[in-house]
Amino acid sequence: MTVAIDGPAGCGKSTIAKLIAKRLGFYFLNTGSFYRAVTYAHLQKGLDPRDRESVLKTASSITITVDHGNICIDGVDVEDKLHGPDVDLNASYVSSDPRVREIITDRVRTIASDMDIVTEGRDTTTVIFPDAEYKFYFDASSTVRAERRIKQHPEGQTFEEVLRLIEQRDENDRNKEVGALKRAKDAVYIDTSYLTIEQVCEKVVSVMGKDFA
Ligand code: DC
Repeated sequence: MTVAIDGPAGCGKSTIAKLIAKRLGFYFLNTGSFYRAVTYAHLQKGLDPRDRESVLKTASSITITVDHGNICIDGVDVEDKLHGPDVDLNASYVSSDPRVREIITDRVRTIASDMDIVTEGRDTTTVIFPDAEYKFYFDASSTVRAERRIKQHPEGQTFEEVLRLIEQRDENDRNKEVGALKRAKDAVYIDTSYLTIEQVCEKVVSVMGKDFA
């Protein structure tokens, strides 16, 4: 079984997807981490994330796996390297090449093929798992998302900087040629701006309730 959640950065998908996965005993798969891994590997080589040909080479030359929920590149756990501001911003350039998306989509599907999963990202309900049994689209205002981001990572950036980055990422994510962030017609829409984590979880579980009562 596949439960897929899409939505913009900071709408609460990761937090909720993890909790739902735990509650159901399913595997949690964060698809954004795969793009982050390619971005990190590319930046480590000192290369430009806007140069599509070299990004494609990086994406084709590394093997991404998941070990106990942590992302590994060629067997090395890089999970704690994937959430700095450099990776944050540049992952949206890396993920804008359809050829890179194809590599990641194949990889994610292969990893998920024999598991019950709760997955989240930008195109999990539309491209990666269009036949998912349950689909959700989460949303939240950009100011609420910036506030959440500051709470999670208070070090360094001002509210205005975080807000600007979020709006820039939204713009990049919505304007991709392939895999752009959009709401699937059959996804349940939840605005998480003024809901607690527990309230969002309850809404998700109530949609799935008939099968998991
Ligand atoms: O969800 P996140 O912020 O960790 O995602 C990192 C980047 O990857 C972000 O720029 C959006 C992109 N992404 C994507 O294009 N498709 C997905 N399914 C997941 C993430």
